[in-house]
Amino acid sequence: MSRRRLVYEGKAKILYEGPEPGTLIQYFKDDATANNAEKHAVVDGKGVLNNRISEHVMNGLNGIGVPTHFIRRLNMREQLIRSCEMIPLEIVARNVAAGSLSKRLGIDEGETLPRPIIEFYYKDDALGDPMVAEEHITAFNWASQQDLDDLVALALRVNDFLSGMFMGVGIRLVDFKIEAGRIWDGDFQRLIVADEISPDSCRLWDMKSGEKLDKDVFRKDLGNLIDAYTEVARRLGIMPDASGNVVAGPKLVH
Ligand code: TMP
Repeated sequence: MSRRRLVYEGKAKILYEGPEPGTLIQYFKDDATANNAEKHAVVDGKGVLNNRISEHVMNGLNGIGVPTHFIRRLNMREQLIRSCEMIPLEIVARNVAAGSLSKRLGIDEGETLPRPIIEFYYKDDALGDPMVAEEHITAFNWASQQDLDDLVALALRVNDFLSGMFMGVGIRLVDFKIEAGRIWDGDFQRLIVADEISPDSCRLWDMKSGEKLDKDVFRKDLGNLIDAYTEVARRLGIMPDASGNVVAGPKLVH
């Protein structure tokens, strides 16, 4: 039993009240789901890996001035985050055709797109998170036109950062999903990257072999999910060694 107040429980994470106003604790579960939770399993160790990988990514983004909700990692499964008002959208950025884009438009998986494509999905489990147009988003007041411009800019900056980071360790960033939240600094509001960025929310292919190192391993029963996520963490240089110390710095793959 936790002594903290549970604020929200999702499919892969739990949010607890934080130690100070305006903060929350984000707990990473081992649960893996696919196809809107039609497929479910508990994968031992996934939460620990995603906590570490998301910390690494969010720290990197904070370091180049892309605002995120991440404050600091607290332990193996938890991180301290800024509380924000979530925008009810999933923002997907794509560099290479795969997944639902390939299916919807009949483009071969693996084909490089002419330019990064940003898509919006309305977060509603009952509806299966349908893709929506900017017209729907502004008409139904899920976000304003200014928010949408900011979200596209945010997603493209995250895409540039992530593409470079993964390319440096021999991984092709095919696509990814982010979520965003609104925070207020006095009278000013701004949008920050929230939720998590991990192999649960990205498509990551080994640049040489094309091997999948992301949640598609689970979605499509391609092998061991933990081996794939561990390989991502190892390449990024964030795997604890035998003594429990983290070996710093990414391992460059030539
Ligand atoms: P898609 O090709 O299935 O639309 O997925 C695009 C990207 O978004 C892919 O990297 C996986 C990620 N994603 C999530 O993180 N959560 C989701 O619920 C969905 C549908 C996709």
